[in-house]
Amino acid sequence: MSANRPAAVVVLAAGEGTRMKSKTPKVLHEIAGRSLVGHVVSAARELEPEHLVVVVGHAREQVKGHLDAHYAGTRTAVQEEQNGTGHAVRMALEELGEAPDGTVVVVCGDTPLLSGETLRALADTHAADGNAVTVLTAEVPDSTGYGRIVRDAGGAVTEIVEHKDASVEQLAIREINSGVFAFDGKLLAEAIGQLRTDNSQGEEYLTDVLSILRGAGHRVGASVAGDHREILGINNRVQLAEARGLLNQRLLERAMMAGVTVVDPASVLVDVTVTFEADAVILPGTQLHGATHIAEDAVVGPNTRLTDVTVGRGARVDNSVAFSASVGEGASVGPYAYLRPGTNLGKKSKAGTYVEMKNATIGEGTKVPHLSYVGDATIGEYSNIGAASVFVNYDGEAKHHTTIGSHCRTGSDNMFVAPITIGDGAYTAAGSVITKDVPAGSLAVARGQQRNIEGWVARKRPGSAAAQAAQAAQAAAGESAGES
Ligand code: UD1
Ligand code: CA
Repeated sequence: MSANRPAAVVVLAAGEGTRMKSKTPKVLHEIAGRSLVGHVVSAARELEPEHLVVVVGHAREQVKGHLDAHYAGTRTAVQEEQNGTGHAVRMALEELGEAPDGTVVVVCGDTPLLSGETLRALADTHAADGNAVTVLTAEVPDSTGYGRIVRDAGGAVTEIVEHKDASVEQLAIREINSGVFAFDGKLLAEAIGQLRTDNSQGEEYLTDVLSILRGAGHRVGASVAGDHREILGINNRVQLAEARGLLNQRLLERAMMAGVTVVDPASVLVDVTVTFEADAVILPGTQLHGATHIAEDAVVGPNTRLTDVTVGRGARVDNSVAFSASVGEGASVGPYAYLRPGTNLGKKSKAGTYVEMKNATIGEGTKVPHLSYVGDATIGEYSNIGAASVFVNYDGEAKHHTTIGSHCRTGSDNMFVAPITIGDGAYTAAGSVITKDVPAGSLAVARGQQRNIEGWVARKRPGSAAAQAAQAAQAAAGESAGES
């Protein structure tokens, strides 16, 4: 933990992001299960600032609503018109009231790859060097559109020149302004009042604070980011996808270094909120979202999508989709299972092939192996549900619950018409429509008696292939009966 707790972090998020061509404000677009501004706020929180202020403008109600819902404790400052990054910071300082006594870190709301670590390194350099301002810079392969870092012969930073205001020589500079700064709060407040708008965009540039402070004799410094990809700012959907890929790679590398096997990282997608234990195995084509957790020795995939799912130790989930469910230790899911919210599979239980479950608690060792729908049910331990069973939970108006005990054996093709209770150790016959409770230990049979009408085919379908086959079978049976 660093001692350099900033007085405030200011996140700039008032811009519209027209290049996204979207009805959704740019900073609310998501990658890896979090909004762009959410990633930035999460990184900022790692610095434990006294105040965290997000400057909102375009679609401010929507952005503020999002922040209130997911990032409680975040303050917002309104910038009515987007008159530049300097103007935006001025709005944030007005929201804070008194000029902050200490460090103020400024970040853009559209740089989701920026890590808390990099922000901390910037704050530490800023404090260690006793700077009035420290800018986070990076060497990029293509500096088009970025503000260029201008240094003097001695290597000291003198100013930042925006692309649109740069000379031909300055345009060739590959070191760029990431848009992230650490400022001395008091000096920032002084300098921000001196910003002018005599530039190509007619805006108050935050970047000009640097030359203003330098001109007043203060120390100005730069911290070069180790990896320029971390400061990637999202302006369009191509960059959104690029950032998604980079972040995904970072998350999977972290998991692999912690002992998770990811067979084909290129085909696996994870959210920042997903957690793993060592020796979990993720097979190709798998997407893990939300609060999903994969325990030790569990094998997930291929081609599986889990959202808010807990997969227990040694469990197996194959070619399946699940939401808000838990899979117990050693349990087996799929291939081709669909677990909907409220499904809780006990230890060593099974939701097999073409099985759908919803709001269902399945006890230890209980199996639902084939082609079934289990909705609104509680099943005890070590029971077996026959193939092609349906828990008939809906009467057209309300949902009803089915309870099945432990060590039950229900036949194939059963309908359990809820509400219904089947006692421990009970059996049901194949093809039954169970509409009444079944006491423990009984066999329930609920189907029509079979009736064979002999000779029907010969009478009703004379001369047909079926009739000929039947006749041949009867002749053969007669011969063999004659022989014995
Ligand atoms: C800015 C920097 C540039 C830097 C680049 C890094 C300035 C003048 N330029 O340029 O040096 O290389 O970021 O990505 O600072 N915003 C507001 N209110 C405004 C204007 C912008 O909140 O009035 C917010 C935007 O929502 C965005 C951020 O500030 O999150 C950056 O704005 P943007 O217009 O993208 O700045 P650039 O032109 O990219
Ligand atoms: Ca701009």
